[in-house]
Amino acid sequence: MTKSLIQIIKEAEKKRVAVGHFNVANLEMLKAVSHVAERLQLPVIIGTSEGERGFLGIHHSVDLIASYNKEHAKGSGYTLFLNADHTYSLDKVKDAAEVGYDSIIFDGGKLPFEENVQQTKKAVQIAKKINPEIVVEGELGYIGQSSKVLKELPEGAAIRLEDLPTPEQAEQFVRETGVDMLAPAVGNVHGMLSGASNPNLQIERIREIKDAAKVPLVLHGGSGVSDEDFVAAINAGISIIHISTELRVAWRKSFEEALKNNPEEIASYKLTPEVIEKMEKVIENRLRLFNKL
Ligand code: G3H
Ligand code: ZN
Repeated sequence: MTKSLIQIIKEAEKKRVAVGHFNVANLEMLKAVSHVAERLQLPVIIGTSEGERGFLGIHHSVDLIASYNKEHAKGSGYTLFLNADHTYSLDKVKDAAEVGYDSIIFDGGKLPFEENVQQTKKAVQIAKKINPEIVVEGELGYIGQSSKVLKELPEGAAIRLEDLPTPEQAEQFVRETGVDMLAPAVGNVHGMLSGASNPNLQIERIREIKDAAKVPLVLHGGSGVSDEDFVAAINAGISIIHISTELRVAWRKSFEEALKNNPEEIASYKLTPEVIEKMEKVIENRLRLFNKL
């Protein structure tokens, strides 16, 4: 029997590994993630932000993931799950739950604490009323909003230890909202600095929040994080890791190369296999690290 998303996450939590979450915006990205998940026989979460699912269409996204599972799962370790990533309005929470997303992130990370609690609590109630099995994640602390190559750190992002959410806030947030999972700001940012490394993660704060919150923790902004920090973060209690910018960069670079190498080609399906292959490398490296393979 196929395992549910929450079972997969609980297993990862116990084994001290992390489930990979990759944002996709086109078929090539989805194919790349699917190929690697099949090769490594791993469950993987496909994320679509509000922008990505606006482009792909929410019904199409759900149908695509269902058909990939039908085609490739066949009683193996492979399963793709679909997450409505960074959802900022309660209407969009309702839409994603109604069409059959496996999980939803309500992102109130930019709101004052009390307002974030109130809004996230409503998001949990709305989503669970539609589908009691749906997994709902909340955000604590602001880490920027764009998966892009950055010239400087996102304005207002919580990076310094004194600006990060405290274990007490994490405990209160989880208790009052009823979220299944928590994404705290722990030194991570969305996007990847162009001329420098991203800030180091605050590993001790991850451990403290994990002890206090007692739910699976999610690390956003995975692009640009060092391998050492990933391993330490997983060992400290991270159970899901989000990657987007690195995949977008790999897509753009390899697509430009493919166009340059094949100046006469007009059949897109003849150009994209090399693009997919390059993206697979990024995904496979990350999944091997996250799953300690
Ligand atoms: O939800 C998506 C992410 O957190 C991805 O962040 O673009 O820094 O990898 P990233
Ligand atoms: Zn994110």
